[in-house]
Amino acid sequence: MLDISDFKNEIIHWNRFGTSTVCSNYEDIPIFTNEFWTSKQRAAHSLHEISYRACFKPQLPHFFISRLTKINDSVFDPFMGRGTTLLEAALLGRHAVGNDVNPLSRMLVEARLSPPKLIEIKNRLSQIDLTKRPEYKCDLEVFFHPNTLAEICALKTYFIEKSKNDHLDNIDLWIRMVALNRLTGHSKGFFSVYTLPPNQATSIERQKQINAKRNQIPDYRDTKLLILKKSQSLLKQTLPNDMPNTRPQFLNCDLNTDRLEVKKSVQLSVTSPPFLNIVNYKTDNWLRCWFAGIDPETIQITQTTKLDRWKELMHRTLVSVARITVPGGYFAFEVGEIQKGVLRLEETVVNAAENTRWNPELILINQQNFTKTSNTWGVTNNHEGTNSNRIVLFKMKE
Ligand SMILES: C[S@@+](CC[C@H](N)C(=O)[O-])C[C@H]1O[C@@H](n2cnc3c(N)ncnc32)[C@H](O)[C@@H]1O
Repeated sequence: MLDISDFKNEIIHWNRFGTSTVCSNYEDIPIFTNEFWTSKQRAAHSLHEISYRACFKPQLPHFFISRLTKINDSVFDPFMGRGTTLLEAALLGRHAVGNDVNPLSRMLVEARLSPPKLIEIKNRLSQIDLTKRPEYKCDLEVFFHPNTLAEICALKTYFIEKSKNDHLDNIDLWIRMVALNRLTGHSKGFFSVYTLPPNQATSIERQKQINAKRNQIPDYRDTKLLILKKSQSLLKQTLPNDMPNTRPQFLNCDLNTDRLEVKKSVQLSVTSPPFLNIVNYKTDNWLRCWFAGIDPETIQITQTTKLDRWKELMHRTLVSVARITVPGGYFAFEVGEIQKGVLRLEETVVNAAENTRWNPELILINQQNFTKTSNTWGVTNNHEGTNSNRIVLFKMKE
């Protein structure tokens, strides 16, 4: 494996990434294949450790941000999800700019870009009144003990009431972000009885079956205690001093239709778009959306089996991002290897960039052994899915 620190602060000579082959349909695009970053779990900053469907490892944006930008540059992700690119950019002292059509995404990202102190979280938790529960939703008792559910409903009401008056400060944003992540999961660290992993809420009907099969009924979970414990774990590493000065910007645009507006042009974008219909973001996030007061039916999440439609969205994304990028800026565009590698989405992305201001510089294939994060694609590795990241690196024409 290459030591990525070898390349820091150097002019980039891509041929240092190993021997290249060429893209089958494009002889002028070199492909570099290697293990460019570690496949180890939890090898990045502890603040990254929240789950989201189809998120990439922090090492991926780190690889490009550390080589292609400098302190105070702006880094963008048009499909930010849990915000891996934004957080890594902020940790490296860059301005973080992100977009996602689902407002849930901002709730997961913003809080971790200005984290409060543990003592502030503890004090705020002690002030939240968990006896107010106008929203109690009985059918969720398949996941939660009635007393836990009452606490969750009280928390939900607290955040919705406070956000109506625009009174959520960074401590509230943090507690909401952690609560969203503790809702359901497969261990005692979550509010729910045993269920699917936290990035994938199952349906009420399916949970009834899981409960019957495992002969389980939800036991009481102390929501405040679990929020505090997870906060402790997220905050266990120190933060870089310049992180609070990185002034993030959040957009909530549908890249199929909306125009992106940013305060300052960006030097680099790093993204992974939704892959055809591999992940169902609407159903996977239904419980988080309920807690956050978001109606998933109103969100235009792109999910299509049609490659042409997908390519069209990628084209629109490339055009939109070009508009907000400085001349000479970069775009690292990650896609998975799906349909057992038969469908090479990286070539579709290269095609989608025709008639735009982007030049494909190279394709980077990061190959690694099976890991938990790669399994978040919802596919079995070495079966229907992938354990490689395939990244097209574009450079903006000067
Ligand atoms: C593969 S995930 C991104 C994961 C991200 N790289 C991370 O590490 O968390 C794709 C994201 O695209 C968002 N999305 C889907 N359709 C969209 C659209 N039309 N416009 C903007 N965002 C969209 C989804 O809500 C989802 O969060």
